Amino acid sequence: MNEDNKRYIEPDLASQLTPEPDADNGEGHGYEEADFTDTSYAEDPYSEPVAYDTSESDLTYEADQEMASQEEQDEWQQEMTTADEAVLEPEVVVAAPVGQEMPGGLPLQDRMIPRISIDAFCDDSDSGVVMQRVAADRRLNRAHVNIQMGGVEAALETYATASTPDLVLIEMFGERDKVLGDIDRLAEVCDAGTKVVVIGKINDIILYRELVQRGVSEYLVGPITVAQVIDTMSGLYADPDMAPIGRSIVFTGAKGGVGSSTLAHNVAWCVSERMKHDVTLIDLDLPFGTAGLDFNEDPTQGVAEALMDPERLDDQLLDRLLVKCSEHLSLFASPSSLERTYVMDTEAFDSILDTVRATVPCMIVDLPHIWEPWSRHILSTADEIVITATPDLASLRNTKNLMETLVQARQNDARPKLVINQLGIPKRPEIPAKDFAEAIGAEVDLILPFDPQLFGTAANNGQMIGEVKPESKAAQGFVDLAQRLTNREVAVKKQAGVTKFWSQLVGK
Ligand SMILES: Nc1ncnc2c1ncn2[C@@H]1O[C@H](COP(=O)(O)OP(=O)(O)OP(=O)(O)O)[C@@H](O)[C@H]1O
Ligand SMILES: [Mg+2]
Repeated sequence: MNEDNKRYIEPDLASQLTPEPDADNGEGHGYEEADFTDTSYAEDPYSEPVAYDTSESDLTYEADQEMASQEEQDEWQQEMTTADEAVLEPEVVVAAPVGQEMPGGLPLQDRMIPRISIDAFCDDSDSGVVMQRVAADRRLNRAHVNIQMGGVEAALETYATASTPDLVLIEMFGERDKVLGDIDRLAEVCDAGTKVVVIGKINDIILYRELVQRGVSEYLVGPITVAQVIDTMSGLYADPDMAPIGRSIVFTGAKGGVGSSTLAHNVAWCVSERMKHDVTLIDLDLPFGTAGLDFNEDPTQGVAEALMDPERLDDQLLDRLLVKCSEHLSLFASPSSLERTYVMDTEAFDSILDTVRATVPCMIVDLPHIWEPWSRHILSTADEIVITATPDLASLRNTKNLMETLVQARQNDARPKLVINQLGIPKRPEIPAKDFAEAIGAEVDLILPFDPQLFGTAANNGQMIGEVKPESKAAQGFVDLAQRLTNREVAVKKQAGVTKFWSQLVGK
């Protein structure tokens, strides 16, 4: 079978894989599906911005605020919590909890699959659909995947004339003898370096052992899940000597000035100071970033130097470019100057973020509010995303678009978390958080009150909210969000021993 045929997908399967038009925009105004697996962003002008159709949305808020009656505005104001009460406990946290538990029940590893070639020969259209979702997963961004129907016969035909890839996944639904016979036939055409994973229906340890004896790397009993397949690939290709890849958490604003950087910096501070977990904060707002100001640092070098020559960035250079703000927090700062302009290159960012991730268990990215190929790529490859929005119509429209686009592009990941910030600005008509959540179709993970005294003091002093007013609800909200993003608890000093010893001394 020739190269073209290798990429062939059964028409039936292909039709199942075509995304359905968005259920609630049957008029067809929905967004173009963004191809996040495509890394050739340089020539890929980003997709047209999409008009948000308010005519049939479930928005309770009119597009023109002046259209809202006084009665409605009063009602919203009543529903709105006051600034002091506004940090609400989210009702439901996330669609999938932190750690990315998948429907299949297995946690997805955060390791990238290396640049390997993978052929999958499915016998069942459901498995074909699963494999398509695996191929589209961000962890396989670097791998090259071909999927075909036809099971072992298609594989034998293909490899009669072509060399075998790094990994072959093959579905074999026959009885034991048939499976073993097929594996022997496949072995005759397989190159020595190829690993083979068999997907079968028989849950039988003896068959498993016989397959392993014949050189099969893994035997999965179907029906397979996306998580199971990715974990198997990770298990086969993750280098045990390689440092584990740190968790990447990307913060973006639904529009400019909503407080996304404030969130990113405060969460980074909580992870380092409250959870005692090492974190590197990267400020990607090159001309206007505020991370240096917020942490009272004035670094002379940082991300810009790394971006100029990404290939040169190794652990030693990274060490020199990072500012150590505290024991657990390092800052990769933006130059925050207008001396230069920057041509942003997706690959350069990719390479820099990879280097950082390999050195620290938690990487927090402060992304400016823009939609460019490189920023889109960073969002699409993040382990966690936090969208910050203010309770107004522009934020709502943008959040809805961002949420839909990112969920579509990251079908095997938890949806982005949503923070509503600056709730309760006096005299400003606002969309109640409940309505905002309903219109987005997702729970709000954190609501922060508008508190200019607290946030202004922190910003002007180069301090975090947890330092200025640790008992405030905002400070608590940041800790709560940091815990959920990292799946870690606040570190507690163990004092039990001391207390016991002390009480013995004082005889209590
Ligand atoms: N809850 C809040 N109450 C009052 N002020 C706030 C609150 N959150 C953030 N701010 C203030 O809002 C301003 C903008 O915040 P920030 O720079 O974090 O926004 P941003 O979304 O990152 O903006 P940009 O689009 O410029 O990157 C800052 O002065 C910050 O102190
Ligand atoms: Mg910002």
